[in-house]
Amino acid sequence: MKYLHLLLLALVILLSGGCDEQKKPHLLMVTNASFPPYEYVEKQDIVGIDPEIVRTVADRLGYILEIQDMNFDSVIAAVQTGKAHIAASGITVTEERKKQVNFTIPYVVAEQLVIVRQDSKVQNCSDLKNVSIGVQHGTTGDTFVTRNIREPERFSNAPLAVAALSAGKIEAVVIDAEPARVFVRQRQKLRLLPEALTYEEYAFAISKNNKDLLKKFNAELLKMKESGELDRIINHYKTQNNNETENGGEHPDDSFLGVVKSSFTLNFIKDSRYVYLLQGLLNTLQITFFSLLIGIVIGFAVAVVRSTADQTGRLKFLNWVCKFYLTIIRGTPVVVQLLIIYFVVFGAVDIDKVLVAIIAFGINSGAYVAEIIRGGIMSIDKGQMEAGRSLGLSYIQSMRLIIIPQAFKNVLPALGNEFIVLLKETSVSGYIALHDLTKGGDIIRSQTYDAFFPLIAVALIYLVLVVVLSGLLGMLEKRLKKNE
Ligand code: ARG
Repeated sequence: MKYLHLLLLALVILLSGGCDEQKKPHLLMVTNASFPPYEYVEKQDIVGIDPEIVRTVADRLGYILEIQDMNFDSVIAAVQTGKAHIAASGITVTEERKKQVNFTIPYVVAEQLVIVRQDSKVQNCSDLKNVSIGVQHGTTGDTFVTRNIREPERFSNAPLAVAALSAGKIEAVVIDAEPARVFVRQRQKLRLLPEALTYEEYAFAISKNNKDLLKKFNAELLKMKESGELDRIINHYKTQNNNETENGGEHPDDSFLGVVKSSFTLNFIKDSRYVYLLQGLLNTLQITFFSLLIGIVIGFAVAVVRSTADQTGRLKFLNWVCKFYLTIIRGTPVVVQLLIIYFVVFGAVDIDKVLVAIIAFGINSGAYVAEIIRGGIMSIDKGQMEAGRSLGLSYIQSMRLIIIPQAFKNVLPALGNEFIVLLKETSVSGYIALHDLTKGGDIIRSQTYDAFFPLIAVALIYLVLVVVLSGLLGMLEKRLKKNE
């Protein structure tokens, strides 16, 4: 128990410390970095028109800029709930959004275009009614298609929608013009329809409570507009993304091995993309390990309270609390719990996401562990407790020395099962934009538009982890048997 406390303490210190070394205030910008030329990832860095503009303004206002990548449908909420200072993500100004956040002066005019395959029958926008259309979830393209054309297929980011189009899974993608041009340039076999669906303006979003930042930001933005600096930045990124093609213009090797080799290189080696998997793996391991500990602690406590109440009729209130906890936790999906803990419970505090995940998965796992252990305690013959008591041991002592050790041995396989489930369940961490192993694969997928290698690699790594974990549990079981 003592060790557990120490470990948890160390964890909290580890996760909370280590950031704020400098005295300058931080400006946290959120974005969805899969939207070239506005924001995209290059060699692990988030770059593009938006980061560059915001960085320039932040520099002049004396801030240190920090950028966080998340799903587009979360960026406005992040600003609104105070999780971030500014959202810069090619965000179109709309009346609905204006109710939630303040917008700076606009910096770009944009439009929505339609991408189809070269050989598509779709020739103009009126042909769209009867074909499947992909959009990025939560964008103005999504709203437009939903309201005016038909129910679209919603993807978490633009490259995934374009990949589905290339693969023939959908017939069209509706998306902002500049990213559309970049995607069409990068992939052969795609073309744009000539007419635009909408005209819009982009601006940066700032919380309604932060009027001061809005004013200062607008002033700098205006200066950049007037001096021509803004156009320079925009044109720079537009032309840079002009010259890129999928494989840098090299001649593709069409043989099977050649294709495998080049996809492997593209997905893992180029721009050191394997690092996404490594970082993700590290977070997955951290989350699993510490939530497992929390789960065991909670689970033991709850199980002891529940079985004590069952057997002795005491601890009525605590027993009620435990039952309530079990009902809530086992009655709702872990993803929803994770989202509630992140956006509601810790909604207004700046807290490390890994810590949030550890808490969420720990609390969740505790409920299952509790019932497993209770089952174990119940399975021990009543006579054992009676024997303990008649030897002069107290209830707690008999529990600790006689019942729990035997129960633990009996439930080890079921517990092992729970740990394996927990490890794999952490893969939903991506919902709070946490970079876990699964998300690592997603990031690669959104950059390379390739599904096969990133997904298989992620699956293999989980598989290895589970095999290792099962092996360790098997060893523990054997050990315990020997001690019998
Ligand atoms: N302009 C569109 C909107 O505001 C799409 C923006 C998507 N941005 C992104 N970084 N993925 O809804």
